[in-house]
Amino acid sequence: MSLVEDIDYGTPAAKSGKTVELTIDGMQVKVAEGTSIMRAAMEMGTEIPKLCATDMLDAFGSCRLCLVEIEGRNGTPASCTTPVAQGMVVHTQTPRLKQLRKGVMELYISEHPLDCLTCSANGDCELQDMAGAVGLREVRYGYEGKRHPNPGIDASNPYFTFEPAKCIVCSRCVRACEEVQGTFALTIAGRGFGSVVSPGMEESFLASECVSCGACVQACPTATLNEKSVIEIGTPEHSVVTTCAYCGVGCSFKAEMRGEEIVRMVPYKEGKANRGHSCIKGRFAYGYASHKDRILNPMIREKITDPWREVSWDEAIDYAASEFRRIQAKYGRGAIGGITSSRCTNEETFLVQKLVRAAFGNNNVDTCARVCHSPTGYGLKTAYGTSAGTQDFDSVEHSDVILVIGANPTDGHPVFGSRMKKRLREGAKLIVIDPRRIDLVRTPHVEAQYHLPLRPGTNVAMLTALAHVIVTEGLVNEAFVRERCAWDEFQDWAEFVSDPRHSPEVVAALTGVDPELVRGAARLYATGGNGAIYYGLGVTEHSQGSTTVLAIANLAMATGNIGRPGVGVNPLRGQNNVQGSCDMGSFPHELPGYRHVAEDTTRTLFESLWGRSLDSEPGLRIPNMIDAAIDGSFKGIYIQGEDILQSDPNTQHMVAGLSSMECVVVQDLFLVETANYAHVFLPGSTFLEKNGTFTNAERRIQLVRKVMSPRNGYEDWQITQRLANALGYPMSYTHPREIMDEIATLTPTFANVSFARIEKMGSVQWPCNDAAPEGTPVMHIDGFVRGKGKFVRTEYIATEERTGPRFPLLLTTGRILSQYNVGAQTRRTANVLWHDEDILEIHPFDAEQRGIRDGDRVRVASRAGETTLRAKISDRMALGVVYTTFHHPGTQANVVTTDFSDWATNCPEYKVTAVQVSPSNGPSEWQVEYRKHSAQSRRVKKPLVPAE
Ligand code: SF4
Ligand code: SF4
Ligand code: SF4
Ligand code: FES
Repeated sequence: MSLVEDIDYGTPAAKSGKTVELTIDGMQVKVAEGTSIMRAAMEMGTEIPKLCATDMLDAFGSCRLCLVEIEGRNGTPASCTTPVAQGMVVHTQTPRLKQLRKGVMELYISEHPLDCLTCSANGDCELQDMAGAVGLREVRYGYEGKRHPNPGIDASNPYFTFEPAKCIVCSRCVRACEEVQGTFALTIAGRGFGSVVSPGMEESFLASECVSCGACVQACPTATLNEKSVIEIGTPEHSVVTTCAYCGVGCSFKAEMRGEEIVRMVPYKEGKANRGHSCIKGRFAYGYASHKDRILNPMIREKITDPWREVSWDEAIDYAASEFRRIQAKYGRGAIGGITSSRCTNEETFLVQKLVRAAFGNNNVDTCARVCHSPTGYGLKTAYGTSAGTQDFDSVEHSDVILVIGANPTDGHPVFGSRMKKRLREGAKLIVIDPRRIDLVRTPHVEAQYHLPLRPGTNVAMLTALAHVIVTEGLVNEAFVRERCAWDEFQDWAEFVSDPRHSPEVVAALTGVDPELVRGAARLYATGGNGAIYYGLGVTEHSQGSTTVLAIANLAMATGNIGRPGVGVNPLRGQNNVQGSCDMGSFPHELPGYRHVAEDTTRTLFESLWGRSLDSEPGLRIPNMIDAAIDGSFKGIYIQGEDILQSDPNTQHMVAGLSSMECVVVQDLFLVETANYAHVFLPGSTFLEKNGTFTNAERRIQLVRKVMSPRNGYEDWQITQRLANALGYPMSYTHPREIMDEIATLTPTFANVSFARIEKMGSVQWPCNDAAPEGTPVMHIDGFVRGKGKFVRTEYIATEERTGPRFPLLLTTGRILSQYNVGAQTRRTANVLWHDEDILEIHPFDAEQRGIRDGDRVRVASRAGETTLRAKISDRMALGVVYTTFHHPGTQANVVTTDFSDWATNCPEYKVTAVQVSPSNGPSEWQVEYRKHSAQSRRVKKPLVPAE
């Protein structure tokens, strides 16, 4: 194995469709108009020496190393900043150029510390490479030249260091932070020779605005910005391309290795979801894989009050299987079920649902998408015919108006957030609908034209008001609607939204938003060119989550914003494989490919291949399983990679459900909170230790490649397979590619998907079948998958969760950049430096009324329960609204959230909980109790003889 090398073309690709022909060093070359000479040369294999240029950034032209000669032109222009021209004749290597380049390098080297042998970038340094490339053999000025200012090494960031002594002031880092990441955290301070790179106002990296995306580290041609892991371990010797296991963006990375140790994760430029960029989580937060808390041996116990007992894999699997069979014999076939994970691969998810349907013999399978994007599946399938987003991420580059509702891309989907910000800096307009003033509303060089800070729970009223303006002001794209949608349904909908009760002026009483802002936003979306909607859990996690998705779908159809690049309806998926886990048949009513279990032909197809008859009745959803457990009819569950105790609402209800079961099997990396109520613990593997595929938010199926052996001994699909075999249902896959072949055989939208095809193409966006052999980046181009687009009336129904004298504030929850979901992984990395506890954000007026000061510990109480945490006074919050994250089990924000859920899918209403906030001087009773139980439950009795 060797290192996967990204070719650096020096400058970004030109976008023009026209080509230009020129001659470089005697060879004819044809390139796109606008291409730089440097890139044109590289495309034909000639590398012109360079230092300040890299193809992730616009050309800058500062180092003067890339000089060329052009026949008929005077001087020696920089090839990075000079575009090609028809008939141009270029020479990249002449005696004059050689002399000039040596002179430039002599100056650089005379100022640079010559500690190459002990430098962490030795062998991976572009300055070193260029000294070689220009044939530098002597430095006439000696090696003790004047040095740039050296404020000393900044090691404040836990993941990388900044050593200014090695800086050549090429400004690649500054430009990467601006152009790629869009944070503008770095500047060049000082002037001339006194110039030095500086984070923020000459602060440390940690104290600055830096969000640790690593783009500057990647761009730096020297060791000035360098990963601490490289300093500690040394340079890598091989790399494997794989896919990030955190969020639904699905960034591609090169895992650069020494043996089985990761040296660093480098974003892969060929990755079509991330195009060479990353965020702090994917790039740096992989240390959890080797954290001491990892459980590597299977464990069992009879009662949840017993300590765990380490056992062999055989014993653990046999025990789980015999318990499941015992329970079924005693309580019936439907008394057990399973939960698949959106953190696991498609193949693993497919196997768990197959295990439940074929080996358990029921449809009691559900997934964590239940609690996040199930309304997306329902809404988009109803309106358009497919339970997925309509665009690829590249599409945003063609958007003129971007409407973000209930999503916080710069925290939740950071790499896509950066691409969005880039498009906004280029001039696209922005509408944000969110109770909080999220970063996008005003961030360097980006400002929303409209921010509609609505009251939580009023999305449907707001979207219907936008539709009201579009219809009543004659802004509907009638030609599109007549051609592509059911006209009678449109007319019915248009009549509905036109009712004066849906006007922004009337609706303002519900949403609290100035009607003029609503009218302006509606006009902008409908008439501003390509309009794209991006949404997140702020849309779905409501009692009207599905209605909101339908309202969004209506808006896009009414304005003709569907079926081409730059437009569309784009759910930003939370976890890495939410799309995939839904595609793979994780819902109790649907087989893979979103086909209802009651469809006879589909069921027969599965039955003939799986050799078992399948239940035609939908099974239980997660909340139903928990309710049934409390009622005594549901007794056993297999949970792969989900921490439902922490992630699902109304924690105390969940505890009651799990405690009522007789066999809870948890397969995970750590003793997560759910494991406190488990009887069998099966240690899981990380994404670094397995093969398979993930499907990101743009339906892109990408390979996950094993970069190290599973420390627990097995990939997760192998564990499910062992359990199936122990239950008497034979499975004998030898590699996940065989599972994908089975998925392709059974699922029309995946018909042409295979590991070989993904390997060849890099990634594939479903549908991928004979009708679309190369996959489908943009959907519904010539028509909707369901035929005619369906308009649906979206009547606003206020949630039953109301504020009142006892609970006067509305709590809404979300996530932040450095942490991921329940935090089981990111809390076990240095990311805790940025967020080591959940914080309650509260408006200054609400805080003052309650005598709460910044940093005070406060009690948050709802009808469901109460918890305590620290308060942060923030004017980002609307009056009457408080916000927190749910990353820390010490807080357990979900103790407070309630059982209310979406009418169609049961997706919990996390985003609206009526609460009261008051000063507190200690943990709540629940927190004290839970901590006690948790400590007791995590006791492990070591075996006298070590397990296998
Ligand atoms: S790590 Fe990212 S945000 Fe921080 S300075 Fe570098 S490019 Fe900017
Ligand atoms: S820190 Fe690196 S990228 Fe930034 S100016 Fe210095 S040498 Fe260039
Ligand atoms: S967490 Fe998301 S945005 Fe960050 S690197 Fe991973 S996939 Fe990319
Ligand atoms: S690479 Fe062209 S001027 Fe630096």
